[in-house]
Amino acid sequence: MSTNTTENLTAVELLFLTETLAGLQASPKFMQAKYFYDERGGSIFQQIMEMEDYYLTNAEMDIFSNQAKQIAALIMMENTPFDLIELGAGDATKSIFLLKELNKGKQKFTYLPVDISAHVISDLEVNLPKELPGLDVKGLNGDYLAMLNKATTLSKRRKVVLFMGANIGNMNQDEAADFLLSLRKLLSNDDMLIIGFDLKKNPKQILAAYNDSKGITSAFNLNLLERINRELGGDFEPENFEHYASYDPESGACKSYLISLKDQTVHIGDTATIGFACNEYIFMEISQKYALEDIKKLASSCGFQYQTNFFDANKYFVDAVWTVTDASLT
Ligand code: AVJ
Repeated sequence: MSTNTTENLTAVELLFLTETLAGLQASPKFMQAKYFYDERGGSIFQQIMEMEDYYLTNAEMDIFSNQAKQIAALIMMENTPFDLIELGAGDATKSIFLLKELNKGKQKFTYLPVDISAHVISDLEVNLPKELPGLDVKGLNGDYLAMLNKATTLSKRRKVVLFMGANIGNMNQDEAADFLLSLRKLLSNDDMLIIGFDLKKNPKQILAAYNDSKGITSAFNLNLLERINRELGGDFEPENFEHYASYDPESGACKSYLISLKDQTVHIGDTATIGFACNEYIFMEISQKYALEDIKKLASSCGFQYQTNFFDANKYFVDAVWTVTDASLT
């Protein structure tokens, strides 16, 4: 953005501005992880997923490349057409294994990838049918729950929701429970949720995944400041902030922060001036890690029935399969 007046912002940018200012005017300051993923942020995240230290992607890839047949069999146990709704689909490199298995089956299904980034959705709609001829794809661009709600109005078919990649980790445990309860309320009897959690493990291994020596994770965080500069007319100087990651083995919370390296003032458009004290932090993101017992408790407290767990060979990660059995919960 070259001009700074809010009249020139689109509705999406206006929400970005409002939520950014709310976070930067709060004490302590915070940002929302969903805003990491503009085009530049998405490509830095691709680089994160390719890092040796970022074990999560390989672990879940192991699950989907080796056990997609079993996962597909669970989905097709109920012998009726369905909608497969993937929350935060990204480039679908892991879910494609499952799509291939489901495509071999007799049941009709529509794949509805949901993503906050419009470019992600249009890429999937163009590319997936090339790799999987005959696949019925309908992308939904927007927030998870709003788009799941939309999907329930589009068809009466049973729903299978995929929520992979430990995206649930971007919520703390209370937020995750609230979210899953809301999700549960949008579902009906016999619907299914397949949800990926990163498991508690050696703290050094977890910290290394969020604190790489090449500075890719640092660039991922700083990109959000640069995005504010680009889209909201901010004047952040990224070199005045430093990425800091921490992991607490007790709570399982892995958190990242940007630390202000000096007393400084930042302007955002012509609407706001934000002061930073030296060493003040912006809380950027949580990546919550779970123990298996926590996951089972979470399922039942949110009105789901735990069915089974799929693990990678190292047991770093789990894709849990939950079903809705009690439609009376409203
Ligand atoms: C996309 C939320 C699963 O928390 O591991 C990776 C995002 N941030 N490195 C994660 C992320 C820094 C990632 N999730």
